[in-house]
Amino acid sequence: MSDTSALLPIVRTVADLRAVVRGWRRTGERIGLVPTMGALHEGHLSLVRMGKAQAERVVATVFVNPTQFAPTEDLDRYPRQEARDAELLQGAGCDLLFAPAPAEVYPDRFSTSVTVSGVSEDLEGRFRPQMFGGVATVVSKLLNMVQPDCALFGEKDWQQLMVIKRMARDLDLPVEILAGPTVRDDDGLAMSSRNAYLTTEQRAIAARLNVILADAAIRFRAGAALAEVEAEARDELLAAGFEKVDYVAVRMAESLAPMAENDAGILADLHNNARILAAAWLGGTRLIDNMAV
Ligand code: PAJ
Repeated sequence: MSDTSALLPIVRTVADLRAVVRGWRRTGERIGLVPTMGALHEGHLSLVRMGKAQAERVVATVFVNPTQFAPTEDLDRYPRQEARDAELLQGAGCDLLFAPAPAEVYPDRFSTSVTVSGVSEDLEGRFRPQMFGGVATVVSKLLNMVQPDCALFGEKDWQQLMVIKRMARDLDLPVEILAGPTVRDDDGLAMSSRNAYLTTEQRAIAARLNVILADAAIRFRAGAALAEVEAEARDELLAAGFEKVDYVAVRMAESLAPMAENDAGILADLHNNARILAAAWLGGTRLIDNMAV
């Protein structure tokens, strides 16, 4: 058993990472991977705990991946707090932190990227066109570096989860992609590293996002027309104080394709596979959330 007071081991190179993982593998231990960009909260830590229930060893990665940020986005001000992250990971049962420098992940003349079409194109992909290419590429790299038995991702980033599942299936990646439920604060706001940007006033408005989506889901389930539900939710977000709504959409949960409507309204069986997703702005902060309908 590891000494719980010991510091969490941190490695920064792929060679060191592989040396540790190889040792575990030799004794037949299963390995789980939790990729993150740091500034960890209970949402991330729940994935580490879930990983520990699935595998003897859990590797977490903290890497603020530059290729998934647009030049106008918050790469430079994204919160970085490695010592605190390491302590939290240790407390959650994590066995190793991989925290590489950008040059370790993207060496000179790096030229390869992974594109997942279809599921990545609309919603987040429309408003952040660079993001899913960056995510798919870095996640496939991390999966190749660690070669875990399972990798864990949060439902908080639902579209990202669907993109990664699609990629793993399409490329026959020998890894099980597991999903953890969205962890929320007491008022229902989905935990996010970006919540740290919010002022007290904005924080109160932010908590309306999940309530408005939940209400919209109830109305949709009760038979209200899709376009109406989406438009009403958008108006409610603006009335609550969000300055801009990128989208509110009810979609097929896995493909994220639009729901098909027939003359009698939405097909009943589709209701079971629907997801409501939204992205909205408060000041310079962009918040996303989603839930089952
Ligand atoms: P990051 O935003 O740090 O999130 C890391 C993982 O934690 C993702 O799988 C995300 O869905 C999950 N997560 C975040 N907030 C959560 C919450 N409130 N409840 C449950 N899970 C939550 O997502 C990324 O980083 C990056 O795109 C990454 C996959 C690491 C690639 O760079």
